[in-house]
Amino acid sequence: MIIDVLTLFPDMIHPVIHQSIIGRAILEEKVEIRVIDYREYSENKHKKVDDSPYGGGAGMVLTVQPVVSALEQIPGYQEATKILMTPQGVPYAQKTAHKLALKKHLIILCGHYEGYDERIRDYFDLEISIGDYVLTGGELSALVVVDSVIRLIPNVLNNAGSAVEDSFSDGLLEYPHYTRPPEFRNQKVPEVLRSGNHEKIKQWRYEQSLKRTIERRPDLYKVYLKKK
Ligand code: ADE
Repeated sequence: MIIDVLTLFPDMIHPVIHQSIIGRAILEEKVEIRVIDYREYSENKHKKVDDSPYGGGAGMVLTVQPVVSALEQIPGYQEATKILMTPQGVPYAQKTAHKLALKKHLIILCGHYEGYDERIRDYFDLEISIGDYVLTGGELSALVVVDSVIRLIPNVLNNAGSAVEDSFSDGLLEYPHYTRPPEFRNQKVPEVLRSGNHEKIKQWRYEQSLKRTIERRPDLYKVYLKKK
């Protein structure tokens, strides 16, 4: 997979993508991430990428030319899935991550300033929001998408089953996990997990997933019931 991140702040992207599982996926060539500073494509003599809004109002608006020029120089950009990060986008969820993980080429635009010149939107296939709050720019939200998609690429997580058992993957939150020691102060690991009875463990985990989802995310549980 190739991921192109269009940003005005490449230094916000670089240090994150070279860490941990994403860093290893890059080294192992399971993904290539290219960070493109679209200011470099501005035809303005001062490399300006923003301007005041027509009709007046506070804040600055991202201009269309630098974004489109940066986009058009990416080989194969027409076929790529082009994503615009914005709090006005569709709420991001695991289902979208799974769909994006099947793509060969993603292009992700990080905005800044008060908003995008509306004409930019015509060049993108999908608008994504990572939640109902406003960030100073799209870099952190783009990194959320990048991280959640890359971990779903086959063999990126070395434990074959771990992405399958994720919270949300079956519509439920994950069951509680325990590891050594069997007792810490007064807290004991549930007996069933140490019983070696795989059927019982499976059943316990399913019940805990249900319980946790009902308690914490009744909205998810409702959807889960409908699908069953
Ligand atoms: N840019 C600023 N806020 C955002 C959000 N909540 N989601 C995606 N992109 C954003």
